[in-house]
Amino acid sequence: MRIIFIGPPGSGKGTQAKRLADVHAIPHISTGDMLREAVAAGTPLGNKVQGIMASGALVDDATMADVVRDRLAKPDAGRGYLLDGYPRTLPQAETLAGILQDAGRELDAVLLVEVPEDELVRRALLRGRADDTEEVIRERLRVYREKTAPLIGYYRERGLLRVIDGNRPIEDVTARMLGLFGIGHEVAGV
Ligand code: AP5
Repeated sequence: MRIIFIGPPGSGKGTQAKRLADVHAIPHISTGDMLREAVAAGTPLGNKVQGIMASGALVDDATMADVVRDRLAKPDAGRGYLLDGYPRTLPQAETLAGILQDAGRELDAVLLVEVPEDELVRRALLRGRADDTEEVIRERLRVYREKTAPLIGYYRERGLLRVIDGNRPIEDVTARMLGLFGIGHEVAGV
């Protein structure tokens, strides 16, 4: 199973991807988490992206292509994965299509998690991560609309898009996602 999560910052992509990864026993691959780990560890990648992340901008596509190509080549990704935070631009979507084609694999679905903007800001402020100040959140939302929202049409045209109402309790959102993949609601209490 290879599924992509897209949606604005704070829509719950990470929360839901973790829950589905537990059910399916496949890795949850979050590019945001990978970059934050690199920053915390002070690696060359971390030093390069620290300021970019703090501003709410996107890391460049070439750097992200290296990060994702390396991660998807790891053995645990062989059985599938839930990709959270990548792709985020049309060039990244094309890079991912190339990686999949080279591996002879296909995507199963792209889940778009929709949440109203006021709720996104409320959630992020509650969470209080380093890049969760109101100013940076608003910038991440602006970047999402400009750079990431075009992916909605891209994946809809390819018949892969599934839209999920993310403005519901966490358990309900998980149940809806599990239902999409025929697992049924009886295991939704994860
Ligand atoms: P990333 O970590 O991917 O940030 P994001 O997309 O802004 O995602 P968030 O983690 O803010 O939101 P989420 O949708 O995962 O929500 P979550 O589940 O955490 O990326 C960070 C930065 O890294 C980027 O700004 C960029 O600089 C860089 N980057 C990463 N990938 C990149 C790429 N591909 N290209 C270029 N740059 C890249 O939930 C948020 C909060 O809401 C939590 O507290 C949660 O408990 C709560 N919550 C979740 N669901 C619900 C619910 N249903 N009801 C109530 N509360 C909920």
